[in-house]
Amino acid sequence: MNPDFVPINGTDHIEFYVGNAKQAALFYQHCMGFQLVAYAGPETGVRDRASYVLQQEKIRFVLTTSLQSNHEIADHVRTHGDGVKVLALWVDDATRSFRETTLRGAEPAAPPKKLTDEFGEVIVSSIKTYGDTLHTFVERSRYSGPFLPGFKPVSSSLKVTPIGLKYVDHCVGNVELGQMNRWVNFYEQVMGFKLLITFDDKDISTEYSALMSKVVSNGNGYIKFPINEPAKGKKKSQIEEYLDFYHGAGVQHIAIATDDIIHTVSELRQRGVEFLRVPDVYYDDVLDRVGHINEDLQALKKLNILIDRDEEGYLLQIFTKPVQDRPTLFFEIIERNGAKSFGKGNFKALFEAIELEQGLRGNL
Ligand code: FE2
Repeated sequence: MNPDFVPINGTDHIEFYVGNAKQAALFYQHCMGFQLVAYAGPETGVRDRASYVLQQEKIRFVLTTSLQSNHEIADHVRTHGDGVKVLALWVDDATRSFRETTLRGAEPAAPPKKLTDEFGEVIVSSIKTYGDTLHTFVERSRYSGPFLPGFKPVSSSLKVTPIGLKYVDHCVGNVELGQMNRWVNFYEQVMGFKLLITFDDKDISTEYSALMSKVVSNGNGYIKFPINEPAKGKKKSQIEEYLDFYHGAGVQHIAIATDDIIHTVSELRQRGVEFLRVPDVYYDDVLDRVGHINEDLQALKKLNILIDRDEEGYLLQIFTKPVQDRPTLFFEIIERNGAKSFGKGNFKALFEAIELEQGLRGNL
């Protein structure tokens, strides 16, 4: 028996529901170096929504907004603010993926459907995961268009320089207190994922707040989903702050891999992206903890990039501030030099930096 009953080739795309997709598309182009590649909206015969497809290397983001008040997308934005609606998975067989997962208890969101246009055909199907988030299975082996049938290839007059973002490394979900194991079980039973790592509140607690986290991964390891839940601390957990403002479970952060984090983060900072700040003392003894690294420590310190090591190597990482006004979704930029872990050695410094921001928002 093949235990991998949902073989996944990688992340197909991530779709965000936003209040103003036209303006959000400019943020991802100008600040994060994505190219506009496709569009669907009134000009292409779609009456109820507008979607912009942005691409950089293997990463595809779709920004979708509603054109109507009484609409599922408008409801989503009213409840959650801008946020991730779909974590789409690239599969060879979207019909089988839907059948295998729903047989094992996944709640269906959309049965398999064949979409066609002049570029060929795509089969898509969707199931529900935590909160209002969906997993869409995308089977695109017989398709040569820029995104999905119905989308028109477009280019922007904006001159965009890519910044070295390569692929989605992992996507993290925040779920309600007591729900982490339920969703870990979902990924194990329904999707055939394996539990990779567990962090308890002793690993991830500061003076004030705490959280627990488990990381699940699919058969080939290309898909990694850490799942967080709040844990009791003296004050409000950063996960509770997210749940309050997102009004429920949802995607907390998307980690994007780069081969040259110094270049990538220099570009992001120049273009106005804001990052969490850890105190300079972090760098005083970091090399005692992580040992030799190839990069110049002063360059990392100047950009406030964090360092961690596991048995297999080291990693460099940094976290943006939330990318919308609600303290919900943010991005991580990560460069792996052998390390397969998630930066456990940085949790304390990082969460103290988050709590500083939480305090400024009056949410601690
Ligand atoms: Fe992460």
